[in-house]
Amino acid sequence: MIVAPSILSADFSRLGDQLKEVEKSHAQWIHFDVFDGHFVPNISFGTDVLKAVKSSVKMYVDVHLVISDPEYYSDIFMNAGADGITFHLDAVNSIEKSLALINKIKARGKKVGITVYPEADMHEYLPYLDEVDLALVMSIKPGFGGQPFREDAIERIKWLNDLRKKHNYHYLIQVDGGINAETGGQCAKAGADVLVAGSYVFKNNIPEAVDTLYKL
Ligand code: DX5
Ligand code: ZN
Repeated sequence: MIVAPSILSADFSRLGDQLKEVEKSHAQWIHFDVFDGHFVPNISFGTDVLKAVKSSVKMYVDVHLVISDPEYYSDIFMNAGADGITFHLDAVNSIEKSLALINKIKARGKKVGITVYPEADMHEYLPYLDEVDLALVMSIKPGFGGQPFREDAIERIKWLNDLRKKHNYHYLIQVDGGINAETGGQCAKAGADVLVAGSYVFKNNIPEAVDTLYKL
């Protein structure tokens, strides 16, 4: 299991210390949510914070672009050090443009992920599943940490897991939102490979919370 603490829930007054704690834990990735106040009604942080994260810890930084214009901003976040970029298909709304963006990110040697809003039709993923490194299942409506887990995410994880087996696809299945020991266990059982956790990690003892998820 890959555990990806979401720094959205970190204590920003001591972000450096918290990042060091994460680095010493079993977490392999840092999850970095970018909100633009347009695609979702909240604003998080941008490239200067990403550069600071990259210079503080030697970890894979998984950038989740929850923004309206991922085609423009993906390059800017890759230039700032993103190791992987996940974007919302609902922000692009064109199969051709989404495929072009996937290829652009891959051409730079970065990992690429796709996601949709929780209520969106899962079939939206289909044209891309052979191409991507990661399929993200949103288990909350994006924009804010600390929301309860949506149970309908479990069926979505299973669907992606079944398709992966059937077609020999190579993507990782990531789940994001409301993850704790209980919901993380349900996701692991359904086939998830990467658990994103914000509140659960940063509102508890960081290494202990990471370990609990890591062992699921
Ligand atoms: C929300 C973000 C999540 C968020 C999860 O839009 O995509 O990554 O940090 O926070 P928790 O784990 O608190 O639900
Ligand atoms: Zn996220």
